Amino acid sequence: MSRSGGRSLRFVVVTRNPGKAREFEKIFSECGLRFRVEPMETPEIQSEDLREVAEKSALYAYDVLREPVMVEDAGLFIEALNGFPGPFSSYVYKTIGVEGILKLMRGVEDRRARFISVIAFYSPITEPVKFFTGEVEGYISEEVRGSKGFGFDPIFVPAEGDGRTFGEMEVEEKNKLSHRARAARKFAEWISGIREVTPPYE
Ligand code: IMP
Repeated sequence: MSRSGGRSLRFVVVTRNPGKAREFEKIFSECGLRFRVEPMETPEIQSEDLREVAEKSALYAYDVLREPVMVEDAGLFIEALNGFPGPFSSYVYKTIGVEGILKLMRGVEDRRARFISVIAFYSPITEPVKFFTGEVEGYISEEVRGSKGFGFDPIFVPAEGDGRTFGEMEVEEKNKLSHRARAARKFAEWISGIREVTPPYE
């Protein structure tokens, strides 16, 4: 699928989140990319910058796997809470969860929120680390709706959708609108133009 002829660069999608893996798999397969998913744990540094978190994770994963790697870091940014939980979404999900967010939002009229996704990709033939971002605007629902997807999906209604939460959508539908899908398509477009080089790279 390489625009420049030859085969596109094979890479590893590093994530322990099966929901994320499913979303990436759909998009990358549709694009004819060559990849595998590695459910490896990478240390998540505490940072207010999604890029920094994704970059550190990608470099860590490359050190372990020694193959081209992509790692994604995402967060939910709620307008009325000044962007909270943002880069700390994973911790907040584990501690207070969707119910905790609904509690914080009780009586709040402005329910606007956005998801942001940052993909970091590293391989020695394309260094430095490359970044691809995607966003989706929407709002926090009044109640939990749907059991599909993962994380905050059951309380996030995308503005461009039909009023359903991501938790009420099949992965194909979520992939039409989501932050992750937008970042993934930018990444797919770029990597499909990178040709496989037989190691040693130098
Ligand atoms: P991570 O650090 O990139 O794994 O994501 C941080 C947290 O944000 C996750 O634990 C989820 O709770 C939430 N999150 C990220 N992306 C999504 C999504 O697409 N849907 C719902 N929640 C998400």
